[in-house]
Amino acid sequence: MTIQRTLSIIKPDATRRNLTGRINAKFEDAGLRIVAQKRLHLSLAQAQAFYAVHKDRPFFAELTEFMASAPVVVQVLEGEDAIARNRAVMGATNPANADAGTIRKEFALSVGENSVHGSDAPDTAAQEIAFFFSGLELVG
Ligand code: CMP
Repeated sequence: MTIQRTLSIIKPDATRRNLTGRINAKFEDAGLRIVAQKRLHLSLAQAQAFYAVHKDRPFFAELTEFMASAPVVVQVLEGEDAIARNRAVMGATNPANADAGTIRKEFALSVGENSVHGSDAPDTAAQEIAFFFSGLELVG
């Protein structure tokens, strides 16, 4: 059994539609614990820094302007195989390809406005958690 932590973001399309609680229920129902959480309104520079890995992609401007367009909720989720488990609960990046019952199938509007972000591997999870949270904010 591997207990992991992963970084989750509830995106502006979801906070605008008041979906934070319904999305959090999906995480908790899947056995993930929300061990840290805060609501932020990212600046464009902060969104660009967070998504720097995508800076050469054609959708970078659209992605970062969207992420800075309204508040987000950043979270640390903990549980057994939390990185893969969270990605299963989120569903495919494009909601058209997401399985029934997943967050993106139920709530996402498009590939860009897809309601949630989740880390994709242990190294990126550690980097992304450190981007938003100090050790003092991770209380388990
Ligand atoms: P996320 O998991 O946050 O990681 C990168 C994001 O880029 C991804 O979710 C999508 O929201 C976004 N993205 C990926 N492909 C496209 C696209 N073709 N157009 C707009 N946004 C995209």
